[in-house]
Amino acid sequence: MVADTIHLQTSSGLVHPSVNVLGYEIVVDLPIHTLILSAIGGAFVLRYAYSWLKLLAELTIIPGINVKSFQSRKTSTWALVTGCTSGLGLEFARQLAAKKYNIVLLGRRQEALDDLAKEIESKYGVQTKTVLVDMAQAESRSTAFAQVEALGKELDFGVLINNAGVSHEMPVTFAETPLAEIDNIVQTNFLGTFHLTRVVLPFMIARSKSGPKSLILNIGSMDGRVPPTLLAVYGATKGGLSVFSKALAEEVRGQRVLVNAVTPAFVISNMSKIRKSSLTVPTAKVFVHATLTSIGLARGAQGRPYEMTPFWAHAFMDYFVSLFGYASEMAGIKIVDYVHKDLRRRVLRKRARDAAKGKQE
Ligand SMILES: NC(=O)c1ccc[n+]([C@@H]2O[C@H](COP(=O)([O-])OP(=O)(O)OC[C@H]3O[C@@H](n4cnc5c(N)ncnc54)[C@H](OP(=O)(O)O)[C@@H]3O)[C@@H](O)[C@H]2O)c1
Repeated sequence: MVADTIHLQTSSGLVHPSVNVLGYEIVVDLPIHTLILSAIGGAFVLRYAYSWLKLLAELTIIPGINVKSFQSRKTSTWALVTGCTSGLGLEFARQLAAKKYNIVLLGRRQEALDDLAKEIESKYGVQTKTVLVDMAQAESRSTAFAQVEALGKELDFGVLINNAGVSHEMPVTFAETPLAEIDNIVQTNFLGTFHLTRVVLPFMIARSKSGPKSLILNIGSMDGRVPPTLLAVYGATKGGLSVFSKALAEEVRGQRVLVNAVTPAFVISNMSKIRKSSLTVPTAKVFVHATLTSIGLARGAQGRPYEMTPFWAHAFMDYFVSLFGYASEMAGIKIVDYVHKDLRRRVLRKRARDAAKGKQE
């Protein structure tokens, strides 16, 4: 059927559109304003139905890009992982080694790096290199990243996981945040990531010209998605990392380097101080597995380019924050505010208890 003309016809004082289909005139028995409103409503329903179905499909049947596809066929490929001495970084190092990547382990504790290097080499039969770096110290960064640059000249750098990160010692208002804490967070989360990426990226662009694609994952946070009161500086660095990741992703897309911002909510780790997993708080192992099996998918970050919220429960949280615009964003801010204030009260109570105990002993 081909509609060759659409025109409006007036009947009983109301304007009705009619469509001419192969010589037959079909009059739509609705006033034009009702039709326009229905079309707008229909477009909204379609938009939400599409993103909801895509979210469900990405969480169940659509596979991510195979993480091994960033490996070279001609030589063994290396993945660099920052902050690999605990939590998510430790798991990224292990799970990438299990996929036969050699690993450059970057961290600030040499003994822990050496232990992990031994574990990974013996368990997965891959090679490792360790680079000692305190991301919060300019001098340490420049020494360490010069080492990385030298390594880049001889090794095939296929994957970079910018994971090292630090938050506030406890939830605190911005007005009371010590300047040293602000510096520590900004240098580790921002400068560490920017400088290392600046060193590694040219090697990736060069290899991907004629070889496999390269991958950079920047570990952000839901605190960079929903503005977190009492963790304002941490949230700002994570929000900034998300913007950085997306701008960089678009810059290097044509050069076959895939950049993604990864958005976790709570995961068991030293940073979150959560020890027991639950429906919404996965172990680092589960979270990293979800990330490495959903590369290239948005999951909860529907409609946001170059971003992924890989773990299913976090994906639903993220999706619902976006769902009703201002109302759901504001609800997210209020919930986070409540959680952080409660957390601060509990930390202060615990400190007071510990101090009282100390006095008694
Ligand atoms: N766990 C969560 O709930 C959660 C939620 C959202 C986002 N994230 C993000 O996930 C990433 C990993 O955190 P995590 O949860 O796994 O916490 P974690 O166990 O505390 O791990 C953080 C890693 O970063 C390293 N690091 C911290 N400061 C450093 C510095 N100045 N120089 C070098 N390395 C440094 C730590 O080294 P040490 O082992 O020496 O301390 C550790 O290896 C972070 O970027 C964090 O913001 C975590």
